Amino acid sequence: MTSAAEPAAESAPIVIDTVAGVRSAVAGWRDAGHRVALVPTMGSLHAGHLALVARAAELADRVIVSVFVNPLQFGPSEDFARYPRDLSADRALLAGVEGAAGAVTVFAPTVDEMYPSGPVETRVTAGDVGATFEGAARPGHFDGVLTVVAKLLGIVTPDVVLFGEKDAQQVFLVSRMVRELDIATTVEVVETVRDDDGLALSSRNAYLDDAARAVARSIPAAITAAREAAAGGVDAALAAARATLDAGSVDVDYVTLVDASTFMAVGSEHRGEVRMLVAARVSGTRLIDTAAFSVG
Ligand code: PAF
Repeated sequence: MTSAAEPAAESAPIVIDTVAGVRSAVAGWRDAGHRVALVPTMGSLHAGHLALVARAAELADRVIVSVFVNPLQFGPSEDFARYPRDLSADRALLAGVEGAAGAVTVFAPTVDEMYPSGPVETRVTAGDVGATFEGAARPGHFDGVLTVVAKLLGIVTPDVVLFGEKDAQQVFLVSRMVRELDIATTVEVVETVRDDDGLALSSRNAYLDDAARAVARSIPAAITAAREAAAGGVDAALAAARATLDAGSVDVDYVTLVDASTFMAVGSEHRGEVRMLVAARVSGTRLIDTAAFSVG
C-alpha cells in the first residue's frame, strides 16, 4: 500500500514508504512511456546528493530518491543509531533542485519494510575488492551496500542509477555487480561536490567541529599535492600526499593510487591514469576522498 505523506511545502516531493507503492508508481510511469532514474541515498541530503538528482532529472522523466539508512552496511560499533535522519529537511532540499520540479518521488521505507523477516539470508558478496580499503576498515560493509542496492534496483527497475564519484569503491563494486549479474540498468557517476575549502561534501561532515574541519581540509589538499607531483611518477605523487597529511596531523588509514579498472594498487613503475584514494579519521569521524589523474 502506498502512503503519500503530506508535502512539507507545495513543491516538496511525495513520499512512498512501501515496496508495493513504488512498484505501482513505476508501472504507471512506464505505461506513460516515462524513463525512470534512481538515486539511492541514506538521507541527510547535501549539495552532492542534489547534483545527482539534477543529473537524474536530465536523464529521466521520473526520479526516485531512496532515503534508507541501511543497517546491513554498518558494523556493530559504527554510527547506524546516530546517523543523521531528517526526512522533512531532505524533502525541502529536493523541492529546490533546479530542473527536477515535479519529477522527484521519495522512497523512504522502514527497516521492517525492506527486511520484513529480519536481516536477509541472501546477500550479494563484494569479492576480494570488497575486502580492501573501505572494506578492510569496515568488514561486511560492501556486502551490505550491494545487497541493498540490488534490492533497490529490483524494486525500482530504473533505466539509470546514479552514484557520487566520492564513494569510488562503491561505484566500482556496484558497476561490477550490475555488469556481472546482468541487471538492466545504466550506472551514471557524478563528480564530487566540494565546499569552498575543498572538503568533499559528506553527510558525516556534520560531525566535524571547526577544529576537526581544519584538520580535514588536509585531505583534499593532499590530493591536490599528489596531482601536482604526479608528473614525477607514482612514488612522487604518494610522497606529496603523505607529506601534506602528516603536516596536517591527519590520522590516515590509507592513501594509495589504484588502477581504476581493477581497483588494485599500482606499482612504482606505473604510468598513465590512476585514482587516488584517501581515508582518514578526524576526531572519530571517518572521511574518504578521491580523484583521478595521470602519473608520468
Ligand atoms: O552511498 C550511500 O549513501 C549508500 O551506501 C547507499 C548507496 C545509499 C546504499 O545504502
